Amino acid sequence: MASSGRTARGQDLRDWIAHMERAGELIHIEGADREREIGGIIDIAMRGMNRPSVLFDKVPGYEPGFRVLSNLLTSVKRIALTLGLPEDTSEVDLVRFWRDYMKNAPTIPPKQVNHGALLENTFTGDDIDLLKIPTPRWHEGDGGYFMGTGCMVIMKDPESGWINYGAYRVQVHDKKTASVMISKGKHGDILMRKYHEKGQPCPIAVVVGVHPGLFAVAGLEIPYGKNEFEAAGGLLGEEIRIINGPVTGLPIPAEAEIAFEGYVHKGDLIEEGPLGEWTGYYAGGKDMRPAIRVETFWHRDNPVLTGAIPGVPPNDDTFYRGTARSGAVWQELEAAGVPEVRGVWSHEAGGSRMWLTVSIKQMYAGHAKQAGLIASQCHAGAYANRVVVVVDDDIDPANINDVIWSICTRCDPRDDVQLLHGCWSTHLDPMSYPEDKHNMNSRMIIDACVPWNRKASWPDVVRNSPELEKDVRAKFGAFLPKNW
Ligand SMILES: Cc1cc2nc3c(=O)[nH]c(=O)nc-3n(C[C@H](O)[C@H](O)[C@H](O)COP(=O)(O)O)c2cc1C
Repeated sequence: MASSGRTARGQDLRDWIAHMERAGELIHIEGADREREIGGIIDIAMRGMNRPSVLFDKVPGYEPGFRVLSNLLTSVKRIALTLGLPEDTSEVDLVRFWRDYMKNAPTIPPKQVNHGALLENTFTGDDIDLLKIPTPRWHEGDGGYFMGTGCMVIMKDPESGWINYGAYRVQVHDKKTASVMISKGKHGDILMRKYHEKGQPCPIAVVVGVHPGLFAVAGLEIPYGKNEFEAAGGLLGEEIRIINGPVTGLPIPAEAEIAFEGYVHKGDLIEEGPLGEWTGYYAGGKDMRPAIRVETFWHRDNPVLTGAIPGVPPNDDTFYRGTARSGAVWQELEAAGVPEVRGVWSHEAGGSRMWLTVSIKQMYAGHAKQAGLIASQCHAGAYANRVVVVVDDDIDPANINDVIWSICTRCDPRDDVQLLHGCWSTHLDPMSYPEDKHNMNSRMIIDACVPWNRKASWPDVVRNSPELEKDVRAKFGAFLPKNW
């Protein structure tokens, strides 16, 4: 165990694959095609949580050994193992881990190296061929082949030199052309505009196939100005080994599976999409997006393309990010002065954003309302939220059955439901207000805690006391199924 109490996490995807294999968290499928079958299987795999990752090989029409890995972080166990936590880590303990990570914000600077497995195959000029990678059409209605979903898109601030990376979808159009879709206001969008306002092309690198811990940071809202490689080092507990792209100078993980670098020129747009998105709809449609003109392309021998596929939740985009978001909301509630928060859960069916449950130990009248309103508006919770439920500390916020029971029995809709109008949302939310109202939405805050003024006379709950629970588990635990 490392000094933090966690085991070493590594930073090479191949070590992660071997680790998941040993843990029974990965299956292999050979012969599925990239047009319908890989996506079709992943759609089935993602319909429930805690199903294994799938590694595809022998994709018809492509070199055997050129693989596709998907359904990455859709199990609590896989997320825990990726982070070096014990495999039996509970949902709320995972959220507690993320809360502490957000609060302490550990950083380890990356280390520049001159070698790495990524350099096994390097192509420039007319030798570049992005089409040799078996990029799937992930859903039947997708408008093309998205190589970048479980990816890192790396950019640099032209003024300060700050390095940022984010997970932004990347479509492949031909041998040397890709495109990127970055929502307005995301860091990549701000950085790209800075170059274009100066009349310069924007250097960009896209990395596909890295250790899921490195990828995870790409999808997190790391603060503006903070180097995400440093944040990833802090998460994985070691310096990230990077090489510098010869054309753009951008840092690229030395053990990445597939990467390319190039430029986005001002006004150089290409028809992109649609891609089935994280809300479960094709709400974004087709549009003109920035084209990436590729100048260097690398891949390892027998490369592995990673996909983190959006669609009807739950999926990668929503589940691992939901646990991290819950940690961030918890941390922001505490930072706003809300006492006795006992847990937060962003339910996976809400796409990591639309449903938040907050558990508190009620300390005063109005405490639950305060927690609910702040959770719905703090930075980590505000974007595209729809429902916030506040429950008492006897309720596990990750147990939807208990949350529904709490709403049904501890909430009087006349007094305990608050509607907020004109909140921050997105065009991907099919219920957001029309475009002319800037895609804002409304949302509901449900106080499902025992009413403060009735606490003293509230009836007892029909469930084992903690003592009886402990006693029977100690005496009969060996005879009970593991998941009881
Ligand atoms: C699998 C996955 C796909 C994503 N796709 C996009 C996307 O296409 N465009 C986008 O703007 N954000 C997308 N996001 C969300 C961003 O990655 C996320 O907001 C991240 O914080 C952005 O990085 P930034 O804070 O450095 O801008 C995606 C996230 C994940 C996990």
